[in-house]
Amino acid sequence: MSFLRINNIGKTFLGERKEEVIALSDLSFDCQDGEFLCIVGPTGCGKTTLLRLIAGLEQPSEGDIILADTVIQGLNREATLVFQQYSLFPWCNVIDNVCFSLEMKKIPKKTRYLEARKFINLVGLTGFEKALPYELSGGMQQRVAIARALAHNPKLLLLDEPFGALDERTRHRLQAKLLAVWQKERKTVVFVTHNIDEAIFLASRILIMRDRPGCINDEIKVDLARPRDRRSQGFLKLHIKIREVLEKILITNTNNQRGAL
Ligand SMILES: Nc1ncnc2c1ncn2[C@@H]1O[C@H](COP(=O)(O)OP(=O)(O)O)[C@@H](O)[C@H]1O
Ligand SMILES: [Mg+2]
Repeated sequence: MSFLRINNIGKTFLGERKEEVIALSDLSFDCQDGEFLCIVGPTGCGKTTLLRLIAGLEQPSEGDIILADTVIQGLNREATLVFQQYSLFPWCNVIDNVCFSLEMKKIPKKTRYLEARKFINLVGLTGFEKALPYELSGGMQQRVAIARALAHNPKLLLLDEPFGALDERTRHRLQAKLLAVWQKERKTVVFVTHNIDEAIFLASRILIMRDRPGCINDEIKVDLARPRDRRSQGFLKLHIKIREVLEKILITNTNNQRGAL
């Protein structure tokens, strides 16, 4: 039995002129407990919509989403979503940002500070507990966002291009950090990225989405040993394979658009 099951979901929005925008259609996949699943796909194929549906921030127009045997209805309290934009409270220091969900759970101050320090340490930010978000670099802010998400103790961690705004070196460092956290905490992760290299470095399995309407086009298992060497034959081969699939999707779209004109 899968930990997370996405069952033939569809999502239709109403556009600005009240026209129907079919963002997702007949989309299905399974995710096992403890898996690190990456999702790649062209802009606008519905990656963010998919994560918002899993988080319960939106309801599917069709199909259902089952997490640990329970159909998600309303906000999914077992999942936490981390966005690309740093979504910290600017007026709270690092430890209070990380404590946020613990405070919501009415955990006493001493216990929640102790718990928060554990996650701050896990993302390598010990010593920055009292810093305000504006005093931190983008990469550090995103580490705080991940610590905050982990402190909530979700069964499922959803990440929407969390390192997309960072420079390459910082991105590589945070990828390694996230993998270490995933291995230690044994979370199930669904990670959206448009960066092929990032997906191969992180994932146990990669889903490639296509658009118009958004659905799963391909699935690729990544069997490379960790830590993965970006210059290895296996890594480069996978990179080429995924790029070819994505290029094919783009070419099909361009041809379809031409046909429609
Ligand atoms: N709230 C909304 N109202 C109308 N259309 C939306 C809304 N959210 C997303 N869409 C549309 O759904 C499609 C998928 O968007 P999104 O999930 O943001 O894609 P991605 O994250 O892959 O770039 C796009 O065509 C987008 O314009
Ligand atoms: Mg998006």
